[in-house]
Amino acid sequence: MSKIEKLRGFKDYYPEDMEKREWIFQNMRKIAKNFGFQPIDYPSLEFLEMYRLKSGDELVNQTYSFTDKGNREITLIPEATPSTMRMLVARKDLLKPIKWYNIPKLWRYEEPQSGRNREHYQFNADYFGESGVFVNSEIISLACEVLNSMGLKNLYVVRVNHRKLMEAILERIGSIDVASDLSIIDHFRKESVEEISGKLEEHGIKGQKLKNLVSLLSKSYRAEEMEESLSLIDRDLLNESGYKELRETLNQLKDNGYENIVYDPATVRGLSYYTGIVFEGFDREGKFRSIFGGGRYDGLSELFQGPPIPAIGFGMGDAVLENILRENNCWESVNKDKTYFIIGIGMEGKKVANHILYDLRRKGRKVSMDYSDRNLTNSIKHASSMGFQYIILVGEKEMRNKSITLRDLASGEQKIIGMDNLGEI
Ligand code: HAM
Repeated sequence: MSKIEKLRGFKDYYPEDMEKREWIFQNMRKIAKNFGFQPIDYPSLEFLEMYRLKSGDELVNQTYSFTDKGNREITLIPEATPSTMRMLVARKDLLKPIKWYNIPKLWRYEEPQSGRNREHYQFNADYFGESGVFVNSEIISLACEVLNSMGLKNLYVVRVNHRKLMEAILERIGSIDVASDLSIIDHFRKESVEEISGKLEEHGIKGQKLKNLVSLLSKSYRAEEMEESLSLIDRDLLNESGYKELRETLNQLKDNGYENIVYDPATVRGLSYYTGIVFEGFDREGKFRSIFGGGRYDGLSELFQGPPIPAIGFGMGDAVLENILRENNCWESVNKDKTYFIIGIGMEGKKVANHILYDLRRKGRKVSMDYSDRNLTNSIKHASSMGFQYIILVGEKEMRNKSITLRDLASGEQKIIGMDNLGEI
């Protein structure tokens, strides 16, 4: 039989990486709770139709979909937002605002590359029932705090835009197909300027206006630079509600200490349901794909036959986070809790050691015991190669003195601790 392979774009996690992923998830959950978000969950399979209506063709083409035994078109979920919205409109009794988070597994048939797999976990946080500058900045700051909690402060940048502002710009410069032009601009950093310009030209944007647009799209701006950059297109844009909301959101974030946030006209987001503020987080050097992405999607509840419900949220995948943590040498140091290996000498020593093992576990320590018949030297070597930080020794002398010997394997330092004082470890 030929060797059994795993599928392309899918990943196995052995303990050394799995522990790190758990640490990432712990941080996400801790910060979400800290911001008053509550956990939810939903199935991994949904009707494909839900994404046809709500997410746009690009995502539907990437689904792992099939016809089930009842002849229904089903898909593994490629994103979380439609399921979250389905749950939201199904419950009319919930008090608003509603703040939900989850870390679902998602599947997309994408070309596998660094930071993009065919299966990934995505932290989602969404805020329903209220809109405005404070809510916008709360959701963006939540994404920032998750990154900060992992030691990534100052290593990322958040690019923000407003769909309505971008639409107003396109209308003013003569676009005859604003929706298509948004999709073209979504590829601004992935295709050449010539390719993008050619496509925009076909939709009526020409000459100096096209040049001005390309120049606007080529940079990101601090809040205080927005006015000047937009005046290049048309000063009247400063009266647009989209401009005002975006500018105030950026100011609000800055006032609360979030510095690395910029207006980026080329950020429009691929998903079709966004209606207002849109944003994406990237590593500061721009080496990797997006760390997170989201925006306001106020019209989606009505597409689900619900009442109008303001909504804003984002998704943050695990893969790019891993890239950035590795790049900044944070990956190896993740989750380095103290770990102990207990060695009992002789049958009596082993019995006492076993008793201490359970006692320390009840005290919340991470402890394992050597159940083998190795001699002491080999036990210590084994503990060291398994990556334990400390050994706890219970031999004849220790039993006589009702104590244990604690050795730090890195420094070789030893301490005698009374068996009644094990809480000191
Ligand atoms: P998205 O931009 O498609 O948005 O994905 C959000 C994030 O998920 C990306 O920035 C990236 O970190 C991660 N991600 C996406 N695809 C992959 C992949 N193939 N492999 C690894 N990571 C990936 C959404 O999905 C929206 N539903 C987010 C949202 C929530 N908007 C409002 N609420």
